[in-house]
Amino acid sequence: MRVIVEVGEALGAEKLIPISHAHISGISVHNIGIEGVEFIEEMALKGARVSVYTTANPCSLAYLEKYRDAYGEKLHELQQRVVRALSMIGVDNRSYTCVPYVLRRPVIGEHLAWAESSAVIYANSILGARTNREGGPVALMAAIAGRTYYAGLHIDENRVPNVLVKVESDVDSIAMASAVGLYIGEVISEIPLIQVRLVADPVMKDVLIKSMLASIATTSSLAMVFLDGISPDLRRTRTGISQLEKLSVDLKEVKHYFEESCSNVLLLGCPHLTAAEIRAIISKVVSAEQLKKLGINKVMVAVPKLVEMTGSSLYNEISGYFTKHGIELEFLPAVCPVVSDLRSVGLESVSTVHGKAWHYIPRLAGVKACLVNAL
Ligand code: F3S
Repeated sequence: MRVIVEVGEALGAEKLIPISHAHISGISVHNIGIEGVEFIEEMALKGARVSVYTTANPCSLAYLEKYRDAYGEKLHELQQRVVRALSMIGVDNRSYTCVPYVLRRPVIGEHLAWAESSAVIYANSILGARTNREGGPVALMAAIAGRTYYAGLHIDENRVPNVLVKVESDVDSIAMASAVGLYIGEVISEIPLIQVRLVADPVMKDVLIKSMLASIATTSSLAMVFLDGISPDLRRTRTGISQLEKLSVDLKEVKHYFEESCSNVLLLGCPHLTAAEIRAIISKVVSAEQLKKLGINKVMVAVPKLVEMTGSSLYNEISGYFTKHGIELEFLPAVCPVVSDLRSVGLESVSTVHGKAWHYIPRLAGVKACLVNAL
């Protein structure tokens, strides 16, 4: 409670407010090291327990049994210790995902304390919930206190667009949505109202939105945008909107993010993909021929633990299609390849269609990444 009060005071908050859901980030052993593991364990052993529903971000690949040898016993055990400690504190054991809204979907106006920039921007922009972009430890403290400080995006008056961004052409692929997001994040620093036509069926549209918002939150510190016609609580009138400063985005301006495929491995699932989204991508968007053309012979898909728990038939159904065409499919449940040392699993480079993965893989996972204009 003292941590939340002091963070709130530093930000000029007048009071604390109750929250209904906390989401903790920063749990990969590669990010937090032994000190981070011991910090979380100490909290658990001293009796800290969450007082509201709480989820947590994905782990390192070292968590998975199949990569135990690749990362070594020490890292595997450290990651297991983090999960055991979080579970003792009361984190939902089905979590370890960056799409916590799949486990519990907040409604408009709910106050949250979420870390994980891609989930925060989705919660504020698409669900109409209210959360600041918390750091992992502050989100953990808020989970225990059941409260957060009343500042930033918890206050309605701060949730208004200040600039109008018009994307001049239709966006119809995950890669293009990512590139547009990376670009908007680079050039905008205030909450924008984005006018963009996303051409996809409802399931794929959500994949495009997730990837675009995660990319915006990668190249900026934005925790919220308004998507015209999609975001639920836009309070500006049309006249108010017409008075905003305007920026046009021509798709030609975002093409420089794309490269030729640099790897025989394609990473999907940044943010994590649900079973319905994977099915939509496989049945409507990607073909084995297309992957072959890109030189891809392995597809890694990061998924929530839930998909593993309920989705073995999904895996069988989809992997059958891929293996028939000589492409290996791997589901990565409850982990994030981006916050894992990918050299340890024998990779030198990764192709992806997700802007956030493309940006962070070289910085955090230690291998080359390229954003391919596909899917
Ligand atoms: Fe999720 Fe990892 Fe991407 S946490 S948003 S898969 S960087």
